[in-house]
Amino acid sequence: MIADSEILSIKQRFGIIGNSPLLNHAIRVAMQASPTDMTVLITGESGSGKESFSKIIHSLSSRKHGKFIAINCGAIPEGTIDSELFGHEKGSFTGAHEARKGYFEVTDGGSIFLDEIGEMPLGTQARLLRVLENGEFIKVGSSKVQKTNVRVIAATNVNLIKAVEQGKFREDLYYRLNTVPIYVPPLRERGEDITLLFRKFATDFSDKYKVKPVQLTEDAKEALLKYRFPGNIRQLKNLADQISLLEQEREIDSATLLRYLPRNSDNLPAFFTGKNEKESINERDILYKVLFDMKKDMTELKKLVLESFNSGGLSSQIMQQHADLFEDMDEVGDFERNMPEASKPAPLILDAARDQSEDYEVDQIEDISHEMEDDNSLSLERKEKEMIIKALQKNHNKRKYAARDLGISERTLYRKIKQYEINE
Ligand SMILES: Nc1ncnc2c1ncn2[C@@H]1O[C@H](COP(=O)(O)OP(=O)(O)OP(=O)(O)O)[C@@H](O)[C@H]1O
Ligand SMILES: [Mg+2]
Repeated sequence: MIADSEILSIKQRFGIIGNSPLLNHAIRVAMQASPTDMTVLITGESGSGKESFSKIIHSLSSRKHGKFIAINCGAIPEGTIDSELFGHEKGSFTGAHEARKGYFEVTDGGSIFLDEIGEMPLGTQARLLRVLENGEFIKVGSSKVQKTNVRVIAATNVNLIKAVEQGKFREDLYYRLNTVPIYVPPLRERGEDITLLFRKFATDFSDKYKVKPVQLTEDAKEALLKYRFPGNIRQLKNLADQISLLEQEREIDSATLLRYLPRNSDNLPAFFTGKNEKESINERDILYKVLFDMKKDMTELKKLVLESFNSGGLSSQIMQQHADLFEDMDEVGDFERNMPEASKPAPLILDAARDQSEDYEVDQIEDISHEMEDDNSLSLERKEKEMIIKALQKNHNKRKYAARDLGISERTLYRKIKQYEINE
């Protein structure tokens, strides 16, 4: 049994502030797992403090005099990660002028911390599973099986079970890694720890820059406890640093504090409502998404109308064949009627064609169609850019999470950031 005093001394040694039951439980599990060789999976939101746990586990283990290497799997390009982790033979790929040892070889007898394990490519996951199962690995470009004795500690801020469901993460590896799970709670679940941490960061600032520390009034403390802190402790530290630097008045009331809390697109600080992240996605953003989907249908519909003009009229057969598209058009109508005047999209070519088909030559209609399509796509591009910027701000410029919110791949997001010249 681990005594409370032992937990306290670990907190002091690793600079961990807080006393919430969830935090204490996580530290206790880490201490119990340390002396074993069991694989540990640390989960928790970004900025919640997972890194210290990997250090606690290695430092309290019998491997403490061995090497400890921390690797961010998300930061190593897919093409080189196998070679970084397992080494390569000379000439095994272009540029491999010399043979190289990988981290699993040089850390023999020590521990490896695999951060952002959810980003590991599937091929590398297969190699990792093998090394976890029987300590065996093969260098890239070699056929010789080598042995190593490394303890693996992994961490992730994404839901690995979901990644398994999506086929991005091997199920067998997930269970193998998750032998000892440690859950690092988000800041909003740590109650009074939030104000303790604020005080600690404000004191650190005042010691470093020789200024009077800022202090929160009671109502400011209350407001801080209600805030949801998507960026967790990393965000709280930035907040304390900013206020310490910029505020002349060292007593901070809630009005002042609120000015520093990032706002949602509806211009309100992101207070914790007990809803999960998904539910809190802004309603307007969802409407924009609907618009994007509808844009595709509209373009298809326009093509159809033009085709029918070219072939001598909108036949009822075509209308029937594409009844689903025409139904969507009615939804667009409802949607538009309920929208504020300024945000209504440009009228559809279908209306123009329907009302005035007698007076237009087909090539005139095509011209209008192109013009309107350009108008529509311009305003949709503006909206798309706006959405991307919002998603990036909401996720503190973390592309991975912004892409997830937008429902697009990280690669597409990257391309769009370039296309719209967005400065992060
Ligand atoms: N309990 C704590 N007391 C004091 N400082 C803390 C505590 N937990 C975390 N920190 C500090 O908060 C910052 C963020 O922690 P850390 O880097 O471990 O987050 P993380 O969970 O690894 O996030 P990510 O998933 O984004 O990598 C670090 O500067 C860390 O020192
Ligand atoms: Mg980290």
